[in-house]
Amino acid sequence: NDDYLLVVGSINMDIMTFVSRHPFLGETIKGEQVTYTPGGKGANQAVSAAQTGSKVMLMGAVGNDHFQENLTSNLLKYNIPTDFVVKKEMESSGIAFITVGNSGENTIIIYEGANGKLNKEEVDLLLSNEENMPSAVLLQNEIPWEVNEHILGFARYHGIKTYYNPAPAFSIPTKAFNDVDVLIVNETEAVFYTGVQIKNREDITYAMKRLLDLGVKEVILTLGEHGCIYSSYIGENLVIPGVKVKVVDTTGAGDTFIGAFASQQQKGENLKESLEYASIAAAITCTKQGAQNSMPTDVQIRMFQEKQRAIE
Ligand code: RIB
Ligand code: NA
Repeated sequence: NDDYLLVVGSINMDIMTFVSRHPFLGETIKGEQVTYTPGGKGANQAVSAAQTGSKVMLMGAVGNDHFQENLTSNLLKYNIPTDFVVKKEMESSGIAFITVGNSGENTIIIYEGANGKLNKEEVDLLLSNEENMPSAVLLQNEIPWEVNEHILGFARYHGIKTYYNPAPAFSIPTKAFNDVDVLIVNETEAVFYTGVQIKNREDITYAMKRLLDLGVKEVILTLGEHGCIYSSYIGENLVIPGVKVKVVDTTGAGDTFIGAFASQQQKGENLKESLEYASIAAAITCTKQGAQNSMPTDVQIRMFQEKQRAIE
């Protein structure tokens, strides 16, 4: 069996509207436009990895509603098999209500629906077949924690590389981090898991140390327009500068980064180049509305890179 990336995670329909400013509590304001675009951190990361040339499988759940068809056919469009996307008859599909402000920043409310009903037995069914053994798994926090915990343990036992993006952040048993190879967090999540308020360079260094102390091998802290920071337990440190673009909508930028990074690493690309590549991919996603539909292909990322080099 070929090397492939297994993403186990959420599948959502993103219902988005655009506002000049976010409403106050109790206030009603008008949205500019409404779009229905496929999202969910699991599906997003799978799409980004597929767009950047990896063989990807997604394990997740959709409901029994009129969104499920669109959500699964959309995955097929990116060559992501849906054999392990289970349909939950009694549930609605996951929905994300997203409000995007003037500078591209968003607020998101998630209704987990079917994502919350994915279970260990379904995952075991996939993994019990030796042929389905992935070389790496990507996890986020939009499915039940027991499922993630189960997969982390399984992966550790079988020597499968694990990427974990604990988003949105919630408390998990600290020992679970021992089964994580690569932890990818944004600032909010870094603050949540370390208690360190990040205001300057020293705070970042300290937060990175605290994250490594959780027991993971490698940490990536994404800082949006300010790039990202990498640290590993063997003492390797990298600072990748931000990529300048005209930001329209940041939704899914983090997911784009993660999918693109894992896919480059999968192909055996050098670490620094993988981080730079992922940063460009994430920046491109910010230039268009929606999550998956704005994720760049390998060719688009390389073209951007060439233009960037020509300017320098
Ligand atoms: O990370 C972005 C994603 O978060 C959106 O696509 C939305 O579905 C939520 O899960
Ligand atoms: Na976008």
